[in-house]
Amino acid sequence: MSRKPIFAANWKMNKGASETEDFIQSFLNKTQGLNLAADIVIAPPFISLPRLADLLHNSNPGKNAHAVQIAAQNCSQYDSGAYTGEVSVLMLREFFVHYVILGHSERRSIFGETDAVINAKIKKAREANLKPIFCIGETLEEREGGKLESVLKTQVTEGLKDISEKDLSDIVIAYEPVWAIGTGVTATSEQAQEAHAFVRSLIAGLYGSEPAAKVRIQYGGSVKPGSAAELMACPDIDGALIGGAALEPQSFLEIIKNGTAE
Ligand code: PGA
Repeated sequence: MSRKPIFAANWKMNKGASETEDFIQSFLNKTQGLNLAADIVIAPPFISLPRLADLLHNSNPGKNAHAVQIAAQNCSQYDSGAYTGEVSVLMLREFFVHYVILGHSERRSIFGETDAVINAKIKKAREANLKPIFCIGETLEEREGGKLESVLKTQVTEGLKDISEKDLSDIVIAYEPVWAIGTGVTATSEQAQEAHAFVRSLIAGLYGSEPAAKVRIQYGGSVKPGSAAELMACPDIDGALIGGAALEPQSFLEIIKNGTAE
């Protein structure tokens, strides 16, 4: 089963509109003429989405611009109304947003998002035909306490509760061990492959072997140009969700290049 790898830049709370423009211009220049065999996604802060949409879709951006797709870093589980500070899926659609990162460990641990909230957001995203990048992953304490599999099982089962097989085909899973995020400590390729194979087996248990073989599972957590090739060579790793190393166009591009090299 060949799955197209997907490399997504999660900028977190970095880069306003003008820094977004600087990045995109440089990135598009660097990718000119390259034929990268991967889906490339950028998730800026909400406030930078209009500029990114304009740069990629409206202002005659050159032929490789459409190769870059836009993600949001979050969405509301509600449609509209009295939800101060929230952004709805339909608002995101106006800015050519195709993907939305949901269940990131920072949303879970800092903003208290539960599996049930994440499940509601995944459903809302699918109603608007957005593709969730659904993040899961264990803390160091959970891993060392022998709870890796039970944590992943709960996150996957609860997060995908009542999600149809058809909707699953538009969901990307991102396995991000919390202890590897922003720490400079990457999971070894053996640790990552083992967790990815386990997540795929969970999907097979829920949906059957064919949907499981098709679902893309990204690795995230301190991915760097130097670690991309080895991680992406693992049979169950289908791309990366990248924070720190995706803030610079050159290092984001090197990760994609190294991760897709035959
Ligand atoms: P990192 O972040 O690459 O800086 O570890 C990854 C993420 O949080 O998605």
